[in-house]
Amino acid sequence: MSPKSSPQREVFVSRGAFIFAAIGSAVGLGNIWRFPYVTYDNGGGAFIIPYLIALLTAGIPLLFFYYAMGHRSRGSAPLAHRMVHKGAEPIGWFATGVAIIIGIYYAAIIGWAGSYMFFSLTEAWGDDSEGFFFGEYLKLGDPGISLEFVPGVLIPVILVWVVVLAILLMGVQNGIANFSKVFIPLLIILFLALVIRSLFLPGAAEGLNALFTPDFKALKDPGVWIAAYGQIFFSLSIAFGIMITYASYLKKKTNLTGSGLVVGFSNSAFEILAGIGIFAALGFMAKAQGVEVADVASSGIGLAFVGFPTLISEMPGGGIFGFVFFACLVFAGLTSLISIIQVPIQALRDKFRVGNKASTAWIVGAMAVVSILLMPTITGLYALDTMDAFANNVGIVGSAILSIVVVGWAMRKLPVFSRHLNAVSSFKLGPIWMTLISITGVVLVYMLITQIITYVVEGYEGYPPLILGVYGWGMIGLLVVGSIILTLVKWPKETIDEMETAVADSVAEENLRTNNKGV
Ligand code: ALA
Repeated sequence: MSPKSSPQREVFVSRGAFIFAAIGSAVGLGNIWRFPYVTYDNGGGAFIIPYLIALLTAGIPLLFFYYAMGHRSRGSAPLAHRMVHKGAEPIGWFATGVAIIIGIYYAAIIGWAGSYMFFSLTEAWGDDSEGFFFGEYLKLGDPGISLEFVPGVLIPVILVWVVVLAILLMGVQNGIANFSKVFIPLLIILFLALVIRSLFLPGAAEGLNALFTPDFKALKDPGVWIAAYGQIFFSLSIAFGIMITYASYLKKKTNLTGSGLVVGFSNSAFEILAGIGIFAALGFMAKAQGVEVADVASSGIGLAFVGFPTLISEMPGGGIFGFVFFACLVFAGLTSLISIIQVPIQALRDKFRVGNKASTAWIVGAMAVVSILLMPTITGLYALDTMDAFANNVGIVGSAILSIVVVGWAMRKLPVFSRHLNAVSSFKLGPIWMTLISITGVVLVYMLITQIITYVVEGYEGYPPLILGVYGWGMIGLLVVGSIILTLVKWPKETIDEMETAVADSVAEENLRTNNKGV
């Protein structure tokens, strides 16, 4: 395809296809791997309160905000921001960059989960799941930067990229939507089976008590609130371009807010279900070892790859339980990873008029090379951990702030977006929605400042400055510079024409069905 010819814009054939794809994107490693340990690290039961507040006051309102941006412009994240104002375009590139960073490490975790599916069958970790994960499997060296590859991790990571390329080459409907339609129901069935199994383990009740007993003192800690907002954004796939991109594939008249409510609540239901299953299992482990629940779970990344294997060894039929658990991580991860990578794929198509397949091949190829160079090495875990922390706590939060401040406040687009959403949707928005978005902006600014001060003063996880400089601050700096450079590249006239036609269509629809009475 010649660079300037018009690549056909892809669509979801139905609202159902979109909902499956959006749930597929939302339900991911964030729900199964991240939520339980973030909850655990942030006061257990106390965390549920800020989590629900963040969901209702920030997560779902912002989900609607990004749907409106993508649907109104039918554009990728940079194009949708360009629709609002020329000066807003770098925000779209920054969000796209955050998606690229997340995709690069996300693939590695899916690769680990793939390995652990098979390790479970033989309980390959023996009596020391921690030593096995960090030592025998990851072959973790001292904190630093190394190109010494670990073949046992390299091969699964390459396989993940091959699978992702195959799905994405099939396109938005045949690849993303159809894959999600098969794997999301399968995931729900498998995961329900796991949760039910965990609930019948001795000690499950103690585990659930640890999850649901609120510790109201923790609510005074700003860190708990930051973690709750961060978890909601990561989990709902917002502020890194995904929901703008997915909404851009929807037909002119699609119930956006209705779909958003389904997606938002399904995602959190799944997340809480994952929390229940995992804490019930931790309760069992605590009982088996005669200790408190608080003493069995290693925090962070270890909860899935260290805690779970120990549990699998201790329970009857653990091998199958483990196989299914890690298979769930792989399925959930893949349906999210394809959505993450679709963000830069669509941005490249829009800005450079590259064909669908070529754009997919370029982006997947480039991301795979970086992911393969950084992740399956003896220092890959440090890169992963730092990228995850900075991409979430600085990148996603920063991107959300920029969108709210520039698009919502400076360009005053909230009334325009609510008019658009109300013209096509069942659940109508109004002043409460606009106020919630604005309050979220203020809360996020406070959170980001606190977070940056913490990283500057305390560093992160005691890692040396080289690691934080390259994978943390360096990465954020690269995203900022890259966003500015890409903004300077001129848009093809065809893309701008298409976006303007889409906006004109949206305005016609809005004029036809204006109904601005809502919450
Ligand atoms: N929303 C995706 C997840 O939760 C990125 O993993």
